[in-house]
Amino acid sequence: MKCVKIIEKLSQFHTASEDELAELIDTINDEELEFLRKKAQATAQEHFGNKIFVRGLIEFSSYCKNDCLYCGLRRSNKKAVRYRLSKEQIMQCCKQGYELGFRTFVLQGGEDSYFDDDKMCEIVKAIRSDFSDCAITLSLGERSPESYQRLFDSGADRYLLRHETANEEHYNKLHPSEMSLKNRKSCLFKLKEIGYQTGAGFMVGSPYQTTQTLVEDLMFLKELKPQMCGIGPFIHHKDTPFASENDGSVRQCLILLSIIRLMHPSILLPATTALGTADKFGREMGVLHGANVVMPNLSPRAHRSDYSLYDNKICTGDEAAECIKCMSNRMKKIGYMLTVDRGDYKEKFGEDNVQV
Ligand code: 5AD
Ligand code: FES
Repeated sequence: MKCVKIIEKLSQFHTASEDELAELIDTINDEELEFLRKKAQATAQEHFGNKIFVRGLIEFSSYCKNDCLYCGLRRSNKKAVRYRLSKEQIMQCCKQGYELGFRTFVLQGGEDSYFDDDKMCEIVKAIRSDFSDCAITLSLGERSPESYQRLFDSGADRYLLRHETANEEHYNKLHPSEMSLKNRKSCLFKLKEIGYQTGAGFMVGSPYQTTQTLVEDLMFLKELKPQMCGIGPFIHHKDTPFASENDGSVRQCLILLSIIRLMHPSILLPATTALGTADKFGREMGVLHGANVVMPNLSPRAHRSDYSLYDNKICTGDEAAECIKCMSNRMKKIGYMLTVDRGDYKEKFGEDNVQV
């Protein structure tokens, strides 16, 4: 089938066969990509108008007990600078963020055992009580079902846990043997079951990724039906085993953003920092391809550069206030505006249930 036909089908029915998705990813030319982009942008605008949701990212710990091969925070990276923010520092970030108009705080950290359930719940409760009109998003990796439940009961609303790849063989090439796709998936389903607005996602162009594994990612998203999906290009980190691997392509990332928008019209889809790192205008292009969320950094400037997932990460030298101003200007230039809103997931119509 011609790419245009597949795009029309995606746009109308929010689904396509695995073969069609593979063909689209593999063969789409620039003209067809522009057609895809316009459809994805229009779909996002139907749901969100020209409003972009903002999430304040607080990178509160760079310690990690995991050893993912792609990530600069992996435990084997002895050159990584490790830090932890105190509860007071985290609250200070939220306070500053609140004044700047943020109504979602994303607490992201490596898998750091120091932040056990007692400590994390105390932090979540404090944010819940001081900033009652804000959403609390956690991104703490894999934890037990009991832990997810306790954090939810303490007031957390959302959880981000990228699946990274839905193909088991691929997963095992990106992760050490003690990690498994099975556990990752079971965490994601558990999070949804508990009631979190849940975010999955993956890197585009990670080592050993193929069109087939990308199609499996899209199929997994269809199965999980997450409320959010974070994707960005893989970017090598010099102190990891993937130091000399090629980076993911911005074009392919944009194609996937648009496909995901058409398959999940009301999904919350960020234009990620990795996309902004891979291209100066990556976040703008992400929005023009159907993204509707940006996540400026609220972490204290002193620690910014130490949360080093990949090389040359942007916004490490900017104060939160500068960062949000810059982001707001960037969005204005392309006809969008940042909005002061919790930006919860709302399913406008039952698009996820359409079967063809
Ligand atoms: N390049 C791009 N994204 C990365 N992440 C981790 N390391 C890299 C990298 N080298 C992403 C992973 C993780 C998220 C927090 O950051 O997908 O889930
Ligand atoms: Fe952070 Fe531009 S968005 S400095």
